[in-house]
Amino acid sequence: MSSAAVDTLSTTRPGWHPPSWRDRPAAQQPQWPDQGSLQQVRKTLDKLPPLVFAGEARQLLGRLGEVCAGRAFVLQAGDCAESFDGVTADSIRDKLKVILQMAVVLAFSAGVPTVKIGRIAGQFAKPRSSSTEVVDDVELPSFRGHMVNDINFSEHSRTADPERLVQAYHQSASTLNLLRAFTRGGFADLRQVHAWNQEFIAASPGGQRYEGVAEGISSALRFMAACGISPDAPELHQVDFYTSHEALVLDYEEALTRQDSITGQWYDCSAHMLWIGERTRQLDGAHLEFVRGIKNPLGCKLGPTATPAEVLELCEILNPGRIPGRLTLISRMGADRVSDALPPLLAAVRDAAHPVVWECDPMHGNTYTTAGGRKTRHFEDVMAEIDRYFTAHAEAGTWPGGIHVEITGDDVTECVGGAEAISDDDLERRYETMCDPRLNGAQSLELAFRIAERLSA
Ligand code: PEP
Ligand code: CO
Repeated sequence: MSSAAVDTLSTTRPGWHPPSWRDRPAAQQPQWPDQGSLQQVRKTLDKLPPLVFAGEARQLLGRLGEVCAGRAFVLQAGDCAESFDGVTADSIRDKLKVILQMAVVLAFSAGVPTVKIGRIAGQFAKPRSSSTEVVDDVELPSFRGHMVNDINFSEHSRTADPERLVQAYHQSASTLNLLRAFTRGGFADLRQVHAWNQEFIAASPGGQRYEGVAEGISSALRFMAACGISPDAPELHQVDFYTSHEALVLDYEEALTRQDSITGQWYDCSAHMLWIGERTRQLDGAHLEFVRGIKNPLGCKLGPTATPAEVLELCEILNPGRIPGRLTLISRMGADRVSDALPPLLAAVRDAAHPVVWECDPMHGNTYTTAGGRKTRHFEDVMAEIDRYFTAHAEAGTWPGGIHVEITGDDVTECVGGAEAISDDDLERRYETMCDPRLNGAQSLELAFRIAERLSA
């Protein structure tokens, strides 16, 4: 897009209201077969209570403001796509354990406070590069996440069903309920730091290294107690854990958008933070129009084709008030392209003095298909992108803010490489993702240690 065309967009935007996105082209929306049942579902969702409170989203904004100022690091992690079937206590607990472990490694080894955001309690919708899938000459709509349709390859399963929006709400509510219980009710107490190391992770090199960190924390706690420092500080016993997902299906997001009674401002109460994906970040599109009016912290993915002019316009549309923490730019360039594609964007945003949080998503630019037909990512490609991302920030004099990763607490084999050298053949063993391949628990910990080394170098 030419910069002249770019310049005119933000200045010609009329006023915002929750449905104002409907006047714009909306990419990646489900083809609902029946508008009548969609309207019924809308009425149901409109009456359901918010999942998060505006005050919590404001608290996260403050934390991200600290990241923006270079005083904290953000860890955004979770499934590529959550599954309705996967909302079990064990899987939520195990995912939380790994995120807590990663955060502890970053905070203890690198000495920076870590803001924890899950891709969880609402990550049920996926953009697709093709709207249909062909198997044995049969063409059906692509799977778009459990909020929209089912993964089985049959006409019935692949037909978009608006009732799933209501189910997504209830699944999000029960996930969030358990997360709140775990993070407030003693499970996330730093004295539990050893208990987060699940058996299969403890046996891995990252898990063994983690035991050393856990021992260091335990002895620091004992030392503090011996010095008479009160062990009652809430920070030692609870963690602030925030939720996020891609704001993709706008009928759902609009229904959960509510006016805060304290400030009168609009918040999308489906999650604390919402992000816009690489496929839906068109400057004149419906997704940007929708999120510009909500006050939650926002993210936007940036792939290798993003231009400096586009990114500056995006900053103007999404953060005209230049509020630190409001906007996180999530670079997902691929290991091969990040060193060329990212520096011009860092320089443009820095020179325009736009306060943004930068995050590196080292997953989505590094996906490939094996000879056996499995979508995977190599751990070393993921690490190479992170390394080059850090180098680009060091050269630009900007803070490398955080990482955005697809992980699970389960002992899956979806990404190859890592200390346990998962091979192409291993992928057949436990390949369980609903969408993109995730780092398993051991790989996630290893990644956290390597980032902590880089942060403290
Ligand atoms: C994702 O985060 O799962 C995703 C689809 O990412 P992107 O928009 O960067 O492709
Ligand atoms: Co993904």
